[in-house]
Amino acid sequence: MKTAIIGTGYVGLTTGVALAFLGHEVTCLDVDAHKVEELKKGKSPIYEPHLDDLMKAASQNLRFTVDPVEALKNAEVIFIAVGTPSLPDGNPNLSYLKSAAQSIGHYISSPFVVIVNKSTVPIGSGNWVESLVRDAYRAQNVDKKSEFVVASNPEFLREGSALSDMLYADRVVVGSDETRALDVLRKLYQPLLEQTFEAPSFLPRPEGFRAVHFLTSDLQSAELIKYAANAFLALKISFINEIAELSEKVGADIHHVARGIGLDSRIGNRFLQAGIGWGGSCFGKDTAALISTGKEYGLSMPITQAARDVNARQRARMIEILMNELKILKGRKIGILGLAFKPFTDDLRDAPAYELASKLVERGAKVVGYDPVAMTRAKREWSDLELEYAENAHSVFSEADAVLLVTEWPEFKMLPYSECAKLMKNKFILDGRGQMDKEAMKNAGIKLITLGKSST
Ligand code: UGA
Repeated sequence: MKTAIIGTGYVGLTTGVALAFLGHEVTCLDVDAHKVEELKKGKSPIYEPHLDDLMKAASQNLRFTVDPVEALKNAEVIFIAVGTPSLPDGNPNLSYLKSAAQSIGHYISSPFVVIVNKSTVPIGSGNWVESLVRDAYRAQNVDKKSEFVVASNPEFLREGSALSDMLYADRVVVGSDETRALDVLRKLYQPLLEQTFEAPSFLPRPEGFRAVHFLTSDLQSAELIKYAANAFLALKISFINEIAELSEKVGADIHHVARGIGLDSRIGNRFLQAGIGWGGSCFGKDTAALISTGKEYGLSMPITQAARDVNARQRARMIEILMNELKILKGRKIGILGLAFKPFTDDLRDAPAYELASKLVERGAKVVGYDPVAMTRAKREWSDLELEYAENAHSVFSEADAVLLVTEWPEFKMLPYSECAKLMKNKFILDGRGQMDKEAMKNAGIKLITLGKSST
């Protein structure tokens, strides 16, 4: 099918590349000419494992352009995947969505077009997009006849594993008030739903994986599914973090506790990794938006609010524990292992490392950070932050009074800690991700405090 994708951020690019790989003719549209030039050369602007490889495998079916006519003119399905960043009041900024809808109204020409909202938008936005497209379409006053329907198709992919989350999804959710639109999208996703595509060697199909659930609903339900899913995952993390603090007090080990409760299939063991809490562009933004939508209807959302409060507290606790240990932060050298909000991505949005580093710098500490993939972006995007960048993970330990583990890259677990210890001024690690091996630290003579474990 002729498919257009508006916006080549994480969601748009992953969707576009995957659909092209599945055999559709995909044109990705973006206003950023530099980004489009790089994409045309096969270079992904973001770090996402295997994205370059899949782009290459799909290149025959994949175009990039800044020209809306080229992308939208004959498209049968158009995905809107533009950013909806938070405004200060918690509501998402919908200006990119608005201009995408208006361009669609201007340029569509196929007899029947399905406009799919993939951006996370407030509930009810589907109807709003439809009216924007309609107004723009009518304003042209031309003699062509295009029918269009708006659908919602929320995405559930995680950065760092976006492509396998897309190709081997738990479910595809599609909401529209018109069955015709649902039928078109079922057809679009058919190779994925039935898993009839040949799995790329670098993204093998999980063993026993046969099919993907296709869930259809009305427009509003699909829009709410996205928020409810993210809020639930966020509160799972905050719940385990609340229990983790109690664990520390009573002398329990949160990792045993999480495993013990997670084995109950009604609870499930995923998203119970205690630590510094969530970051990234989704959970913070979506929980804020859910609360703000509730407010519009006179509803408070106390559980979602509590999840946010606990999450903010986790970052504050890292500083408290550090202060407790070092007493004075002024003049201290603090190392930070990991800058991005999670491993295998260079995305720095709402990364705990930024907040921690800023607070430490404010208190007069010298902060040195390292991340295997996010440093180039950090130098550019965090230019306001007085952060020194280490050349490798080792250098973070040099002369350090403390090292904080903030992002759980597997390679941080494998460092030669006995050697690292020798470089440290004060042998102390604060593990915000529950990754460090207690025995290895003991052998290296390093004092270790892990969130959720009582320090002995
Ligand atoms: C999240 C959701 O998991 C996706 O389903 C959703 O599509 C996406 O948001 C979105 O709305 O776009 P993402 O933010 O990329 O995906 O990454 P996650 O793997 O969910 O991690 C989010 C944060 O939670 C990270 O900072 C991670 O370190 C933290 N986390 C995750 C924990 O602290 N504990 C856990 O057990 C799991």
